[in-house]
Amino acid sequence: MKMTGVTHIMKRDLLSLQDLSGEEVVDLLELTEQLKQDNYQLNNQLKGKTVALVFQKPSNRTRVSFEVGIFQLGGNCVYLGPTEINLGVRESTADVSKTLSRYLDGIVARTHAHQDVIELAEHSSVPIINGLSDLYHPCQALTDIFSIKEKFGKTEGLTLAYIGDGNNVCNSLLLGCAKVGLNMRIATPPNYEPQKNIIELAEGYAKETNTEITVTNSPQDAVKGADVIYSDVWVSMGQEEESKKRLNDFNGYQINEKLTDLATKDFIFMHCLPAHRGQEVTAEVIDGEHSIVFDQAENRLHTQKAILISLLGEKP
Ligand code: CP
Ligand code: NVA
Repeated sequence: MKMTGVTHIMKRDLLSLQDLSGEEVVDLLELTEQLKQDNYQLNNQLKGKTVALVFQKPSNRTRVSFEVGIFQLGGNCVYLGPTEINLGVRESTADVSKTLSRYLDGIVARTHAHQDVIELAEHSSVPIINGLSDLYHPCQALTDIFSIKEKFGKTEGLTLAYIGDGNNVCNSLLLGCAKVGLNMRIATPPNYEPQKNIIELAEGYAKETNTEITVTNSPQDAVKGADVIYSDVWVSMGQEEESKKRLNDFNGYQINEKLTDLATKDFIFMHCLPAHRGQEVTAEVIDGEHSIVFDQAENRLHTQKAILISLLGEKP
């Protein structure tokens, strides 16, 4: 199998989409497509290599798709949940990182504070892949961009409307969309907008790719004429204590058929999952004909195999 893209990826870690150039993102999407077309064919890109999943939070998609992907690439996977590696509590994050580097070829980390993935990367001699932190979810955003390209045959010139919380998924989408020329409109309740510095970073990329970024408090303005409607939970992992306030503050930001009527006729609905029907999205929309949420979930596998090959694989 020809591995296009592999030679362009020089960086060791994938902590944020800041770590990839627009060209590298395009290369990863191409490699993802090849891997998907290969239809789960096994290969030896990770033969003899072991990757650990250091997870401080629960996971379905990220854990299972990485474990299966590593297996399909001929590698071995060790899952280290919150009760094994209690980052910064049982021992320092630096000591965890230095120790694991002596055994492993790569680490996928899911943390609370983004600073923990940064610290793991600073002290590790093996690549660190961010499998979700409170600030970013780069593997999800790369998958989402791949899924959009798969459905529309392009990313440039399309408009994605993200409705809900300016959270980790929103931040990564913001950087990713700006890098590939996908216009993004974000509608959040007041005080839930993405951080100013992340918007500014994305605006810098957007200038180069001629992409429009809009941040508003109006879901209707964001969805009008959009090709993609995206939502995520209103209460992210680690924010459970704020549930009551958040559910109240996000009232009016639900994606329902009244809202989707404003989008283009052939819009797609996306959600990173897990979803809460009746909160951020109605069952009619997420289970309806425009929804691609399970294609998205499947594509995590293909995209992450491309990431693993690019960062850890045997070079051709
Ligand atoms: N979308 C996503 O990352 O799902 P999990 O939390 O189940 O891994
Ligand atoms: N924003 C969500 C994404 C879950 C995949 C969270 O952090 O819980």
